[in-house]
Amino acid sequence: MKRNILITGGAGFIGSHVVRLFVNKYPDYNIVNLDKLTYAGNLENLKDIESAPNYAFVKADIADLDEMRRVVVEHKIDGIIHLAAESHVDRSIKDPFTFARTNVMGTLSLLQAAREYWESLPEKYDGKLFYHISTDEVYGALELTAPEGIESPFTTVASSEHHHAYGEDFFLETTKYDPHSPYSASKASSDHFVRAYHDTYGMPTVVTNCSNNYGPYQFPEKLIPLFINNIRHHKPLPVYGKGENVRDWLYVEDHARAIDLIFHKGKIAETYNIGGFNEWKNIDIIKVIIKTVDRLLGNPEGYSDELITYVTDRAGHDLRYAIDSRKLQRELGWEPSLQFEEGIERTVKWYLENQEWMDRITSGAYEQYYESMYAKR
Ligand code: NAD
Ligand code: DAU
Repeated sequence: MKRNILITGGAGFIGSHVVRLFVNKYPDYNIVNLDKLTYAGNLENLKDIESAPNYAFVKADIADLDEMRRVVVEHKIDGIIHLAAESHVDRSIKDPFTFARTNVMGTLSLLQAAREYWESLPEKYDGKLFYHISTDEVYGALELTAPEGIESPFTTVASSEHHHAYGEDFFLETTKYDPHSPYSASKASSDHFVRAYHDTYGMPTVVTNCSNNYGPYQFPEKLIPLFINNIRHHKPLPVYGKGENVRDWLYVEDHARAIDLIFHKGKIAETYNIGGFNEWKNIDIIKVIIKTVDRLLGNPEGYSDELITYVTDRAGHDLRYAIDSRKLQRELGWEPSLQFEEGIERTVKWYLENQEWMDRITSGAYEQYYESMYAKR
């Protein structure tokens, strides 16, 4: 079936994996990637598919309502997968207004543009979908009731030798919202607007809340790529607080697969949690990263351990995130396909083999890529 799908934030980390998956898997779909190309947007992430006949790129700001109206009408959009956002917690602490503008007003503008267009059509909302990508951070933080870890109650393909849970509680789709950072507050607000557009106007919507992603093309301000790059340059590794915080890690391609499945098979107005069944304390994951990078670079074991540097904690630092994604497993048959050991090996290798990608970002040169590729068209 022919479809015209708008993917926002497709030049970012997760968005680029979603765009690649859809462009390659669905030659009959027209995929429009809309991205403002902020510091986090990098069209080099999509080099391999940029000339595909079913792919188009639009540089635009989701908070520009008139521009959103124009794009959805011009491309006759019938499905939206909305990933564009300001995504880094530390930046939100320094500059909360940018997060409110993009994540709240941007999402609202996109919803409104879609609503006006879809309501103007004879078939109205029939066959339409607004799919909003959100985060587990909206649920707040869980207690760390088992600091040494207990056996995780979840058994999946992702279960590995390290199969720990650090408490008995998990985030469910019904868990009360309790955001703590300006980032998570802005994402929570956007989730509420999406649900309000369903309840008030009857717009077909779906929301998913996912745990921490890792893998290729992640901007090196986030823990895993930042630390891989710092180890390569033998620079300090700033561990916030005591390194005791727990995150639930999911390989990014598994998230993209879940998005594909939910976009096609998810139930309207539902929420699905997506997680890795894979909890790690920061300090433990940092040790795995150090060991892997050292081995792949041919350094003696323990060579980079001295880089670990404990620094002042992040303000309002959430202690533990842990997703229960069994609803998605049960209802749509999704589970992570990759064990963490394999995912982290692939990820470290990718960053070490793609040092030019990393160097162009850290030098700022990637911003010129758009100018050279698209400005002349
Ligand atoms: P990212 O920061 O790597 O990419 C965000 C993209 O959005 C960039 O390409 C950027 O240019 C674009 N963008 C930002 N502001 C925009 C605006 N005003 N208009 C148009 N485009 C704009 O983010 P990511 O890590 O890929 O996250 C993508 C989405 O997934 C976000 O909504 C985030 O909240 C959510 N999420 C991320 C994770 C994670 O671990 N990274 C986990 C769960 C949910
Ligand atoms: O849980 C999903 C969220 O995961 C997404 O919604 C966010 O967009 C994404 O950025 C991520 O948020 P985190 O704050 O968990 O990710 P980050 O990589 O910034 O940090 C991971 C953990 O590592 C966190 O406990 C803070 C810690 N940390 C991070 C950095 C950058 C450090 O100790 N040192 C660092 O330098």
